[in-house]
Amino acid sequence: MITALRSLFPSLQPPGRHYLDSAAMAQSPALVMEAVARHERDARANVHRGMHEMAQRADAAYDGARDSVAAFLSAPAEEVIFTGGCTAALNLAARALAEALGPGDVVVTTEAEHHSSLLPWIMLAQAKGFALRRLPVGGDGRLDLGDLSLIDARCRVVAATHASNVTGAVSDIPLLAEAAHRVGAVVVVDGAQMAPHGPLDPRALGADLYAVSGHKVFGPTGIGVLWGRRELLARLPPVVWGGGMVGEVDDGEIGFLDPPQRFEAGTPPVAPAVGLGAALDWLRGLDWSAIREHEAMLTGRLLDGLAVLPGVRVIGPTYLADRLPVVSFTVAGCHPHDLSHLLAERGVAVRGGAHCARPLMRAMGVEEGTLRASLALYSNAADVEALLSALAEAIKVLR
Ligand code: ALA
Repeated sequence: MITALRSLFPSLQPPGRHYLDSAAMAQSPALVMEAVARHERDARANVHRGMHEMAQRADAAYDGARDSVAAFLSAPAEEVIFTGGCTAALNLAARALAEALGPGDVVVTTEAEHHSSLLPWIMLAQAKGFALRRLPVGGDGRLDLGDLSLIDARCRVVAATHASNVTGAVSDIPLLAEAAHRVGAVVVVDGAQMAPHGPLDPRALGADLYAVSGHKVFGPTGIGVLWGRRELLARLPPVVWGGGMVGEVDDGEIGFLDPPQRFEAGTPPVAPAVGLGAALDWLRGLDWSAIREHEAMLTGRLLDGLAVLPGVRVIGPTYLADRLPVVSFTVAGCHPHDLSHLLAERGVAVRGGAHCARPLMRAMGVEEGTLRASLALYSNAADVEALLSALAEAIKVLR
């Protein structure tokens, strides 16, 4: 099955190319590229503004893409907001929520956050005067949720990653959400890494707002999604203003449209949304129990192979439960950038560095960063073996 899946990805066909950087950017199947090209050829027009033939096709394509995202998230279409990316979605969530926050309020984030999930809150806390608290990670890089007393009556928002882009650890969002909802706090979840590993139901998880990245779910760049509970979106203010999100406009009187349009000022990323819709329709049709088994098998082989290489320390869980096929590690005496360079020379693409997660690097004692191999549904055993053998050679060169 995986061979057939992999054959759908033109960029993975060159022999000797071992792409293990899918947490940064997943590759796209030809069907996504074709959907975007078809749209640009036959329906390149602005949306919700024109009556002409191509405008009507653009409206149908854009609205259809929203339906596809909604189906992937088990949600109604009016709960799906298109954004320019996952970072834009998380910034939108933070800015809209922070309008009601001030001194005396608390926002709880975690040590496992990507900067996109953390920096908006740091900047807004400085501007608005609310306090920030951070839930810690344990020795295996997983969120330590043993003591949730940080989520107290002053807490208005809990912002947490669904799965770490560094360690691959999946967070217990239902547990966090239960604690947050007990004190009336809103739960914002960064789903960038989780979404490429199967359809989701953020409402059932307990999330109130959930952000997804297009290019990490095999779609185009320049597109992301913020899902939000209808009842929450209805009371959040828009924080970007422009065309397409208002009815009446007078100097003192502005009639904002209902969600999701209220949060989509300006011309939206129409063609990327169409590509994202195609990607998610395709993903929904796949056999996820087989894919998860395959991803776990490869992760197990990778962890076993790393365990016998000299000086390797896995940063994150060394077991398969509740983790994604995203594995970070360090090698004593070798800088991750030198290692990633040597691996690249052998056709193996990984990411080396801090992975936009400095607080997590500090918490794990790896300020120089890590090397990260991130797999996706198209990864195969040859990719993992190529990584392990190139790594063994690179370690010999550098030590
Ligand atoms: N957030 C992306 C990563 O983890 C870019 O690599």
